[in-house]
Amino acid sequence: MDLDRFIAGLPKAELHIHIEGSLEPEMMFAFARRNGVALPYADVEAVRRAYRFGNLQDFLDLYYQGADVLRTAEDFHDLALAYFRRAAGEGVAHAEIFFDPQAHTTRGLAFETVAEGLLAGMAQAERDLGVTSRLILCFLRHLSEEDAFKALRQAEPFLDRVAGVGLDSSEQGHPPAKFARVFAAAGERGLRRVAHAGEEGPPAYVAEALDLLHVDRIDHGNRALEDPALVERLAEEAIPLTVCPLSNLRLCVVSDLADHPIAQMLRLGLRATLNSDDPAYFGGYVNDNFRAVGAALSREDIVTLARNSFVASFLPPTQVAAHVARLDAYVAEAAAHG
Ligand code: HPA
Ligand code: ZN
Repeated sequence: MDLDRFIAGLPKAELHIHIEGSLEPEMMFAFARRNGVALPYADVEAVRRAYRFGNLQDFLDLYYQGADVLRTAEDFHDLALAYFRRAAGEGVAHAEIFFDPQAHTTRGLAFETVAEGLLAGMAQAERDLGVTSRLILCFLRHLSEEDAFKALRQAEPFLDRVAGVGLDSSEQGHPPAKFARVFAAAGERGLRRVAHAGEEGPPAYVAEALDLLHVDRIDHGNRALEDPALVERLAEEAIPLTVCPLSNLRLCVVSDLADHPIAQMLRLGLRATLNSDDPAYFGGYVNDNFRAVGAALSREDIVTLARNSFVASFLPPTQVAAHVARLDAYVAEAAAHG
């Protein structure tokens, strides 16, 4: 079986996807029309042309602007369902989706509008597509700790349907330490914890996310490779990294996919996974990310990445085992039938 077909059918989980980052330009226009929002773009091609980023902040500026077309619970439902349809077609059996409530409440939407829409889309995806999911509330790190506490308070009525909290947005100058207390409060409420770290920020931010935020996973983590002692710790503690190659390329975290460190991460014994981050902005969904780095990896590496995606998920162990068994059966079948 050729590599593309093998990747296409490979059972996998996606653990690093900002649902607002799945807003395709076509959907941006459709939501803008339906909600009477004026867009600063003439057409879909103009949007795509604007997606040239020199760094994370360039992207974030357009990402928050794009999110402005999302106004109703129905919009969030439709956005989520469109992602799940796409993911289901790529062998994604389970997804843990990030959302940025503060990107919406700061422009006047109610937290409930966002959460109820997304949760309805997730429920429909499980019913109609068989894709399970979890919701992760990300705090915007360029805003204050008090603002993050406010988002956590707004989430209170939904906490039985929120798996965890994350930390995203502008990394440099906004270290994990800034959010130690709100992450502790989230932990007291039984929430899992993840954080973007080491995408643009230094290795020290990765260590802080572990020591001060007590995260279960690191999102990105690329720059951890600059610190051998940290790498050893990440490997020893089996801390999952949710790595996003096409995002890294588009945000200039790597200058060329040929230089992407995913193979090195696996050689170093790191529990890496592959993910799309913001697929509508970075030119590809999860399988595009597998294909982007596939040539540098062995078939066994690719299977390891898929296995890691289930092992690193927040699913209960019995469900992880069932997914891994299905993955092993797929690999055996692929080997038997060439
Ligand atoms: N990094 C930080 N914040 C984000 C990202 C990212 O890749 N995507 C959406 N918000
Ligand atoms: Zn991200």
